[in-house]
Amino acid sequence: MVLLTERDRIRQSLAELVERYGNTRSSLLPILQDIQRQHYHISEYAMQVVADLLGIHPVEVFAVVSFYSFLDFKPKGRFIIRVCRTMCCHMQGKDRVARQLETDLGIEFGQTTPDGRFTLEWANCIGMCDLGPALLVNDRVYTQVTPNEVHHIIEECRKVFGAHALQNQEV
Ligand code: FES
Repeated sequence: MVLLTERDRIRQSLAELVERYGNTRSSLLPILQDIQRQHYHISEYAMQVVADLLGIHPVEVFAVVSFYSFLDFKPKGRFIIRVCRTMCCHMQGKDRVARQLETDLGIEFGQTTPDGRFTLEWANCIGMCDLGPALLVNDRVYTQVTPNEVHHIIEECRKVFGAHALQNQEV
């Protein structure tokens, strides 16, 4: 029986992604998005392997990861909460929502909770200007958020995380 190391497993799963999206330069972004979705960040090793499999220089992969704000080098939380800080949301009370998030989660913007569940970040306009304050939890948009609703949003995420953890335990 052959035992796979962690690196072997990463290489194998990245090879599967390359097979799915194709080994051309244009596959780079969808591959990186998939890695981000699965692992909540893109490690240095993963960048090297992707470059190797696509036959491009690792610097190109690094440049793409640095360019897009939704791709991360460092591990982030299972839920990334991005609060819009652009003018309309600012005028509609984004600071009160932001303070409530910091209080409830016990972290500041740019940080991740020690249990790895939540990351708080600022975002620029997400296109919901007349319905501010607006925020994103991963891909889901919340509008006209009040400080009181922050508790419900966090609670909702905790339930999803709990169910997810339970499912994983059962596997
Ligand atoms: S200003 Fe916040 S969504 Fe546009």
